Amino acid sequence: MMSESRSSILDAIDSKTKLLALIALIAEGAFVASLVVMPPDQVLYGLIVCAIILIVCIIGIVIIDSKNVDKTLPNIKNFNIKNAIDFYNTIAKMYDERNSKKLLESHRRVIEEIENHLNEDRNYNILDLGGGTGKLITNHFFNKENITWTYVDKSTSMIKKFQEIMDEAPLRTEIIVEDIDNIHNRLKGKKFDVIIISWVLSSMPHNPDFSLLKNLLADNGILIITDNDQAHSSLNPYYDFIIEGESYALEIRPINPLELEEELTEIGYKRINSMCTKDDRGGPFSFQLTFK
Ligand SMILES: C[S@@+](CC[C@H](N)C(=O)[O-])C[C@H]1O[C@@H](n2cnc3c(N)ncnc32)[C@H](O)[C@@H]1O
Repeated sequence: MMSESRSSILDAIDSKTKLLALIALIAEGAFVASLVVMPPDQVLYGLIVCAIILIVCIIGIVIIDSKNVDKTLPNIKNFNIKNAIDFYNTIAKMYDERNSKKLLESHRRVIEEIENHLNEDRNYNILDLGGGTGKLITNHFFNKENITWTYVDKSTSMIKKFQEIMDEAPLRTEIIVEDIDNIHNRLKGKKFDVIIISWVLSSMPHNPDFSLLKNLLADNGILIITDNDQAHSSLNPYYDFIIEGESYALEIRPINPLELEEELTEIGYKRINSMCTKDDRGGPFSFQLTFK
């Protein structure tokens, strides 16, 4: 165990640094040895030569190490949850590159829940709040001519991506650039068979007013909420992307599914389904709650 950690420390040191340190060590060793044989009037010159070698080696090590730090640590730009939209505008072009297996599984479950609900031969209205690029959910329904997909997002870059992905798809889409907190004003009087809030709550500083959203649900309509489980996001609090050597990180808001269910139940929602996905170590990764 000890030799492992010693060799990993040596491995981590740049080979040029090792060489300079060795030169400095030999020069100092030679100086100490020469003290025995050197005439006393020349000791000062020997000392000056060794000091110069030492200083040159130290400067070399500092330069090499500072260059290495520049290479390994990209600049990290942290985004506060209040600036989440700026974060999504910055990372939109890379958003779908970061979809992990676990994330795909969570989205697949949302798709399954929607499909189970669309079981009659009629037209359906779906409201997708914070729809993002649409690649993982909306795109699955691209050829459903009986669906009107109302998409809401506030990030213009995510909306642009959504438009690119859904371009020429037969699915009828209506794009609304709006804050979720204000959407009830934009959609007054409209009713939806499915409202989706997928991986959005953890990117908002607070939950939206669910009682106002309830007015937008059709009689038999369902609300599907899915997100990172608090247990997972507490250990992994940053949603981060590296783009062209720069690192961008959003500190997400942890969402506790039990508290969320309690909040919705208190205002009259009824939970009709719940699921969770596990991370690679068997701990909670994401939750999905479906309400009527
Ligand atoms: C992590 S992405 C999720 C995208 C998509 N729903 C999915 O499951 O892949 C979060 C999205 O919510 C949007 N968003 C966050 N806060 C919002 C708000 N207050 N109003 C509107 N959109 C918001 C962001 O712009 C971003 O596109």
